Amino acid sequence: MSGTALVVGGASGIGLAVAKAFVAEGNQVVVADVNAEAARSAADEMGARAVAMDVTDEASVAAGFDGIEDLRTVVSCAGLTIPGAITELPLEQWQTTIDVCLTGSFLVLKHAGPRIADGGSIVVISSLNGRQPGAGMGAYCASKAGVTMLVEVAALELASRGVRVNAVSPGLVDTPLTAGLSIVPGLTDEYIENTPLGRAGRPDEIADMVTLLASDKASWITGAAFDVNGGAHLQRYPDVLGKLRAMVP
Ligand SMILES: NC(=O)c1ccc[n+]([C@@H]2O[C@H](COP(=O)([O-])OP(=O)(O)OC[C@H]3O[C@@H](n4cnc5c(N)ncnc54)[C@H](O)[C@@H]3O)[C@@H](O)[C@H]2O)c1
Repeated sequence: MSGTALVVGGASGIGLAVAKAFVAEGNQVVVADVNAEAARSAADEMGARAVAMDVTDEASVAAGFDGIEDLRTVVSCAGLTIPGAITELPLEQWQTTIDVCLTGSFLVLKHAGPRIADGGSIVVISSLNGRQPGAGMGAYCASKAGVTMLVEVAALELASRGVRVNAVSPGLVDTPLTAGLSIVPGLTDEYIENTPLGRAGRPDEIADMVTLLASDKASWITGAAFDVNGGAHLQRYPDVLGKLRAMVP
């Protein structure tokens, strides 16, 4: 890949690893994140540029793309998880998850499409939960299933310009997003038991798939979702809801 790569949600976890991998390959990188301070410090450290971007706000997304020259790669990593049973989840928490994970991906695709160079590559981070249901994960599962389908539609719509659009679907990866899981007794163990390769992933292992998809080595790949999860899609998702309920006295 040459040109500029924009990594949305690039201040932490998987996005941060993706941004570092692009810098290591010698690319110009722009780190975009709602946490402007974290984006700036991450960008300064790796020799990239930072922009503030809230993926739930269309004007903010559009402004984040402004001024980026020779845009060849866009990676959409922004996300969050709010667990809760469908029968109990407050509408506001459902909406927040959908806004960040699904509508955020839509807005990044919407504004990346017209700005990315012909032949460019867009990668959206979906999840194991885009294909595997988990009790207590309704909002996140629905949003990520939507992301995977949105990527397929975007691939159809942008193919005439040679722009490729793919999804990467991680399983459990050690990041700040998942650090809090350790307070739920037995949850991480159940994830690992259901991961044939027997461990959580590292952010750089997701970045490796993203950089491959951004490269010419993936020149005939579009509209696909890639499981990067140690084989976890072959087994079952942990009982998040049961474990959360067991914590309530
Ligand atoms: N870590 C995992 O186990 C895992 C598994 C499957 C999928 N994912 C997905 O990978 C992506 C990255 O997750 P992570 O684990 O690196 O999490 P993380 O919390 O470390 O990083 C997420 C980043 O997104 C940013 N962000 C959140 N809301 C935003 C918004 N409205 N606008 C712009 N940026 C925003 C955060 O500030 C943060 O920098 C997410 O889409 C997540 O759903 C993670």
